[in-house]
Amino acid sequence: MSKPFYLTTPIYYVNDRPHIGHTYTTVLADVIARFHRMLGEDVRFLTGTDEHGQKVEKAAAARGIAPKALADEVVANYTDLWQRMGMTHDRFIRTTDADHRATVQSWFEKLLATGDIYKATYKGLYSVSDEAYVTETQAKELQAQGLAHQLIELEEETYFFRLSAYQDRLLAFYKEFREQERREWVQPEFRFNEVLRFVEGGLQDLSISRTSITWGIPVPGDTKHVVYVWFDALLNYLTGAETAWPPDLQLVGKDILRFHAVYWPAFLMAMGLELPKTILAHGWWLMGEDKMSKSKGNVVRPDTLLRFGNDALRFFFLRDMQVGHDRGFSFEGFMDRLNADLANGLGNLASRTLSMIQRYRDGRIPALPAHRDGVTRTHEGLGRAAFDQYLENARRNYFNYALGPLWDYLRGLDGYIVEKQPWVLAKDPAKAEELDAVLHLLWQALRMTAVLVAPVMPGMAQELWTQLGMTGLVADQRVDQITWDVSMPERIGPIQPLFQRIDKEKEMSELETSAAAPAEAKPALDVPELRETIDYDTFAKTDLRVGKVLEAERVPKSDKLIKMRVDLGFELRTIVGGIGKAYAPEDLVGRRVVVVANLAPRKLMGIESHGMLLAASDNAGLPYLVAVPEEAHPGFLVK
Ligand code: MSP
Repeated sequence: MSKPFYLTTPIYYVNDRPHIGHTYTTVLADVIARFHRMLGEDVRFLTGTDEHGQKVEKAAAARGIAPKALADEVVANYTDLWQRMGMTHDRFIRTTDADHRATVQSWFEKLLATGDIYKATYKGLYSVSDEAYVTETQAKELQAQGLAHQLIELEEETYFFRLSAYQDRLLAFYKEFREQERREWVQPEFRFNEVLRFVEGGLQDLSISRTSITWGIPVPGDTKHVVYVWFDALLNYLTGAETAWPPDLQLVGKDILRFHAVYWPAFLMAMGLELPKTILAHGWWLMGEDKMSKSKGNVVRPDTLLRFGNDALRFFFLRDMQVGHDRGFSFEGFMDRLNADLANGLGNLASRTLSMIQRYRDGRIPALPAHRDGVTRTHEGLGRAAFDQYLENARRNYFNYALGPLWDYLRGLDGYIVEKQPWVLAKDPAKAEELDAVLHLLWQALRMTAVLVAPVMPGMAQELWTQLGMTGLVADQRVDQITWDVSMPERIGPIQPLFQRIDKEKEMSELETSAAAPAEAKPALDVPELRETIDYDTFAKTDLRVGKVLEAERVPKSDKLIKMRVDLGFELRTIVGGIGKAYAPEDLVGRRVVVVANLAPRKLMGIESHGMLLAASDNAGLPYLVAVPEEAHPGFLVK
């Protein structure tokens, strides 16, 4: 028996909850996993969390909890989200799992024995945010970008991996690959070129242990050292492989490509193991042109988008992102895409087709008539071409190039309906065969579309499948064996809209995450009048303090009120704020706020609130909490 198709995502750091960037990678992996199952393959799909290292140690220290406790908390966020999104991974691996620790320690020992790992003293510049030593060139780049503050000087005794010894073997491997028909060992090709240039620039040995931190897997026999997070993290793919080695496809973001396309294959060469077959590096979801980041407060969380349905989010991710490139996210663009392609597009075509079959043929699906005219045959041909193109691009993991042409084809069918005017044909008994041909073609096209898009939109595809009158699970179909002449059910199923049109204006005004508001949606400002002049002493009576929200929950029976525990540095307060329409409780926890600290307490829905948060507000009365930089500590006076 052939080995399973082995697919991995990066394992996510546990210093933050998942945002749409992490969600995107896992969705892409899940779509590919489902697609391969529908190709009749056995699939092993691995995802999980990367829990050791300085970032997590620091994030936990900032919260005053143990790293493992922080990891457990964040892991619960991930597993809960993946479960709600119906992800089909076979294992959720944590680098704190016992079997993983054993893998890392045993390989460390073996490579020490072969001389691929050796101990020496290292002195150099270290990037805290990347958890990696940087070369002089990289340090200069960071300085040029104004990021020099992330660098610290380190001197330590460390274990090295003999990366320099693998430069030639890596280059030979890449070059050999580029001469093959399947040129992209790294997809897309321009990312492969980046890797090549990096390796051609020369490789230095890689420090793979740390003495500066304790949160990690101890180096066997030398417990002053813990294993460097990346050596630890990359080996998760070995721990989680079971019988599926080597990986057929490893998904990574462009930022971690170097680790996967250079260090990782070098480790595997040293281990004498087979290399992964393909590394796919995707780009980033940006906010405007900026990176999403917690400190910029522009992070979009998946739950903000999941309100429109899991299938809708999955579709948007795959349709809008050109694999390998970055893409600016906007809430408006998101809704436009869903309205155009799911409410109109597929949804409209399905409801038109099914209701015509209902109305003109009493729900009976017409068989393929012997005579079809040129127009109909043309659309049959276009359909075959779009389906073939879909399969070809999906096999290469380029779902955007699969979905685009398929949706063009569906749009063409709208034109076909307009051209054929079934409502006119239906009035003329002599045109019965022509009408049958139209209805049959539309039904067939939708049936095959349901199969093709099932990996992307499992729920909606199944819904469509059932409405078309098909029985069983669409996911049990072979996606590469869809044919025109299938044995058809007699009747269609009950009809329902596939996707409700989104009321964009309403959504924009109710937008929960202020960060997700596109820059172009400027509220018409109706500026309130300036209040009477006061002197400084009057102002100074207001005691404004920096606070940090520790806990937040909605006040039952109120959509506006949120009850918070706020750390003011000198004491903890309960504060009830009317910000529930603009903020979710989980977005508040950890956030710094400005508190009117000497405001007399008052009761709101039975809860005593001691203090008030400062917020700007727009015409609709939506609050925008005043932002405070992370460096300002709870208790600082604001004046
Ligand atoms: N722990 C490492 C990976 C170790 S794999 C052996 C790591 N974790 S991460 O949580 O920071 O990032 C995980 C993945 O999320 C990366 O592939 C990264 O590219 C991806 N994304 C993070 N932000 C993203 C966007 N804004 N958009 C798309 N993906 C992004 O790196």
